[in-house]
Amino acid sequence: MYTGIQHLHSYMTYLVLLGLVISLVVALGGLFGSKVFTDKHRKLSLLGLIPAHLQWVIGVILYFVSPLGFSNFSGTAMGDAVSRLYILEHPLTMIIAVVLITVGYARAKRQLGEQRGFKSIAIFYTLALILILIRIPWNAWPNS
Ligand code: HEM
Repeated sequence: MYTGIQHLHSYMTYLVLLGLVISLVVALGGLFGSKVFTDKHRKLSLLGLIPAHLQWVIGVILYFVSPLGFSNFSGTAMGDAVSRLYILEHPLTMIIAVVLITVGYARAKRQLGEQRGFKSIAIFYTLALILILIRIPWNAWPNS
């Protein structure tokens, strides 16, 4: 079960990044093209939200089945940079990123028919993407 979930979490990362990039391209296109945020644009921004939410759930499960997650928690492990990344920094940063994506989407949803919807997606999804990129375990991904 552990290996299956680990692989799923690893492959889902491609979808998370792709979904965020597509949503951002759409949002920036709308912003600079002075368009109005419509229901079609809202649906496109779901490409950034849905994979991130699924990944969050998979990540939480992985945290409790992986030898690098909760079961590795100890004072000694916290003193090691790689162990601390998996035990604390990666999960916490990713949770904040998913919250930002959710807030951006929820704001944009309330701004249908206005241009501001694109701005909400652009700002919140960009911040989330930065957080995700700085706390992906690049030592292990995409090689495994
Ligand atoms: C957008 C959200 C997330 C992304 C993009 C992401 C991405 C990744 C990537 C790329 C890896 C390395 C996979 C590999 O070794 O091939 C990883 C590992 C891991 N992630 Fe996440 N993650 C996310 C959310 C979470 C969350 C919310 C948790 C826990 C609450 C979590 C827990 C873990 C754990 C424990 C590992 C180590 C798994 C192992 O190799 O045993 N992740 N994550």
